[in-house]
Amino acid sequence: MTFVDGPVRVTVPATSANLGPGFDTLGLALDLRDHLEAEVIDSGLVVEVIGYGAGEVPLDERHLVVRAMRATFERLGLAPSGLRLSCTNAIPHARGLGSSSAAIVGGVWLARELLAGGHLLLDDAALLDIAARLEGHPDNVAPALLGGFVIAGQDADSSFFAVPGSVDPRVSAVVFIPSDPVSTEAARGLLPADVPHADAAANAGRAALMVAALSGRPEELLRATEDRLHQQYRRPAMPASLALVESLRAEGVPAVISGAGPTVLAFSDGVDSRASRALAEKCPDGWVTHSLAISGTGAAPADAR
Ligand code: HSE
Repeated sequence: MTFVDGPVRVTVPATSANLGPGFDTLGLALDLRDHLEAEVIDSGLVVEVIGYGAGEVPLDERHLVVRAMRATFERLGLAPSGLRLSCTNAIPHARGLGSSSAAIVGGVWLARELLAGGHLLLDDAALLDIAARLEGHPDNVAPALLGGFVIAGQDADSSFFAVPGSVDPRVSAVVFIPSDPVSTEAARGLLPADVPHADAAANAGRAALMVAALSGRPEELLRATEDRLHQQYRRPAMPASLALVESLRAEGVPAVISGAGPTVLAFSDGVDSRASRALAEKCPDGWVTHSLAISGTGAAPADAR
């Protein structure tokens, strides 16, 4: 088995997981993308990071894209002589917008592209499996790989599934990104081991409603985004985010904590609509806001930058 000559490139979207009730299950790709480039070299490992993470993430074997590439090669019993990797990151880290999933999906994708005949050896299901095992849950990696809205989970035999759902073209998102990070590990550590049956039942109903709301009933998004399983428990780690979610919802805006937070995502009706512009004006001081389309495209080949 051989590696291809020359660099390969991929672009991977940000993602928002949970969407309120769909903890560890529902995810949506957003039009904010990292760009990665890799090639096989004679020896060693050379990693460059531009944008978010520059000067912060390790530029060695611990780099998440490198770990994902190695895991993919190892699944086929392979090891390249050396690797060069360049990452241009537009997705902020530790904010609940799927930066680690974008890195992992970018890594497994690049590794497949670097293998001659890689698509015959590893289909998208294999990439999802490697990526979800690295991340630990599939709700960000599935839409990062496939794009759009994805319902994902793990079966009793530990295999992962990812089923795309449809998104009404009227739906867009406005994200509000706090200046301080919250690690997913810390946010997961705040969750209780058990929840009341009534809360689980309520979330099951809202998650089902979410599928219908996103696919063609956006007027149901406020009701469909109600959550009783995770957001309130995480308040100590992100009180300002919970306060923003509550004030937006009180005004009738379908707002949620994005993934494990602390970013707040509000559903809207177009990237440059009057409602989205009005929402952006509610951005707290020191936070960053973006009005984003839902990205129907997951990981995809990219041009040179
Ligand atoms: N479903 C995950 C969580 C998303 O809320 O912890 C973060 O990766």
